[in-house]
Amino acid sequence: MIYISTAMAIKERVVQVFLKLFIKILARINNRRFLRIFFIISQIFKEEIKMNNALIIYFSKTNNTKKVALAIKKGLEKNGMNITIKKIDEIKEKELYNYDLVCFGSPVVHSLPPTPVFEFLKNNKKNYQDNGEVYLPAPKLPNKNALIFVTYSGPHCGISEALPVGKYIRQFFEHLGFNIIDEWYEIGEFHSWEEGSTKGTMGDIRGRPNTEDLALVELKTIQLTKSL
Ligand SMILES: Cc1cc2nc3c(=O)[nH]c(=O)nc-3n(C[C@H](O)[C@H](O)[C@H](O)COP(=O)(O)O)c2cc1C
Repeated sequence: MIYISTAMAIKERVVQVFLKLFIKILARINNRRFLRIFFIISQIFKEEIKMNNALIIYFSKTNNTKKVALAIKKGLEKNGMNITIKKIDEIKEKELYNYDLVCFGSPVVHSLPPTPVFEFLKNNKKNYQDNGEVYLPAPKLPNKNALIFVTYSGPHCGISEALPVGKYIRQFFEHLGFNIIDEWYEIGEFHSWEEGSTKGTMGDIRGRPNTEDLALVELKTIQLTKSL
């Protein structure tokens, strides 16, 4: 019995490695017809090609987004994924396609992405575009998934202040052919403005994201990436 299950496990692993290699080769071929073939193959073998490489990128001024990034990391680890976590300025050119899942986190600054996030997205989109890797009408690539997370305080109008940031990041990944698995909006204390953290639309948000918020993020991550 043990021999049979070991043999089955080895067979599964060989199939996985072979398919991943095949997909990586096809992914390098810059042609829409190949991309389609590549998509069909991945759908047929969806069960065999489990995601296991994840990149978490974040920008964080006062650590709220960093805390959420670390909670996501814990969740992904519990699902047995290999995780690389980087600040936005540590990302190398063309790095994004090296992962099955990219989690991208940003705070909200004056209802918009902060300048380093905005610049990162603008420059990277241009790089991919210049390399002919942005297609019309942005076909989805297999095994390229993105999770977007935004932290915000929403002092005046709640989540409406954060949605443009999440949507801006979302369209960036969609341009690159990523499948968006979710957008999360997490409350974070406005560290430099006490009134904004106590008397705003979201109420008293001091200390957030707190232990419960982060435990929930971890749990959501486990559930979301388990079903991929
Ligand atoms: C200069 C500045 C401007 C901000 N503007 C907004 C805003 O317009 N809307 C909002 O919801 N939160 C705003 N925030 C709050 C941050 O988005 C929130 O605290 C976030 O969690 C900070 O993340 P970080 O600690 O990772 O930098 C602002 C914070 C700062 C410091």
